[in-house]
Amino acid sequence: MSLQEMFDVRGKSVIVTGAASGIGRAYAEVMSENDARVCLFDLDSKRLDKTVSEMKAAGGDAWGLTVDVTDRAAMSAAFAEVVRRHGRLDVVFANAGIDAGPGFLDPLGQRNDEGQIDNLDDHHWDKVIATNLTSVFNTIKLAAREMKLTGGGRIIATSSIAASYNEPIVGTPYMPAKAGVSHLVRQAAMELGRYNILVNAIAPGPFITNIADGRMANPEDRKAFTDWSVLGRVAETSEIKGVALLLASSASSYMTGSEIVIDGGVLLRPMKEAVPA
Ligand SMILES: NC(=O)c1ccc[n+]([C@@H]2O[C@H](COP(=O)([O-])OP(=O)(O)OC[C@H]3O[C@@H](n4cnc5c(N)ncnc54)[C@H](O)[C@@H]3O)[C@@H](O)[C@H]2O)c1
Repeated sequence: MSLQEMFDVRGKSVIVTGAASGIGRAYAEVMSENDARVCLFDLDSKRLDKTVSEMKAAGGDAWGLTVDVTDRAAMSAAFAEVVRRHGRLDVVFANAGIDAGPGFLDPLGQRNDEGQIDNLDDHHWDKVIATNLTSVFNTIKLAAREMKLTGGGRIIATSSIAASYNEPIVGTPYMPAKAGVSHLVRQAAMELGRYNILVNAIAPGPFITNIADGRMANPEDRKAFTDWSVLGRVAETSEIKGVALLLASSASSYMTGSEIVIDGGVLLRPMKEAVPA
């Protein structure tokens, strides 16, 4: 099998949620750069328009729908619109997500009142669970309905290393939301395999995006994450493109229920700390 055949996504009908920025934008770009037909979903219509224009100017077959992933009716209508326009649905990236505010420690290791579990705002908890977990369930549900009709497809959810590693400076609701995403992916993979629908997760470590008001751009905030990575740096969004292409193409035809970690070795941190500098 040639390289082109192995990673071929030409003509595939793709949805990416949370695609106007960061990791979702990189997923949408790599699909479009490799000649898929890509519909970008995002809440932020201004940023969405700009992203779609730039992708089209680069020669991509891209278009956008302003949709809130927590709005079930709007999501259902948006999926129907993509199928109406593309005729089918092959690949869905369930990616949209938000940060969960400050953790119980600040980046310098000091206790942070706002992030203490006994101070957490209930509405904030509900919003993070709705956006980062419930919307992934709903996206998988809508994707599975369409993919069953056409003999299969690929669903790729953005989890996080926070699914498997507890973290004091990231807001507490983020951890169970992402652990839920990873476990949901395995459950959905088990159920949907017989329909040739492959479901996998990507678990990023620290990437420079606009999440948490772009705090990764702030050197003070970035330092903790930089120190944890065995590569000594945080990631650029383009560094997620290879895995996205792998999971969307026949190169991963025997992968389902997997989680690919892209974290510059952050999860090796306890070992790194045991190794003298
Ligand atoms: N950046 C990181 O270090 C990192 C690490 C691990 C996991 N992640 C995950 O990656 C995913 C993408 O985050 P990012 O870092 O690229 O952030 P980002 O803020 O740059 O992009 C997220 C996009 O999702 C959109 N969005 C947010 N809520 C939405 C909603 N309700 N409906 C539709 N769109 C919505 C935003 O408008 C934005 O365009 C998230 O699931 C996040 O949890 C990020």
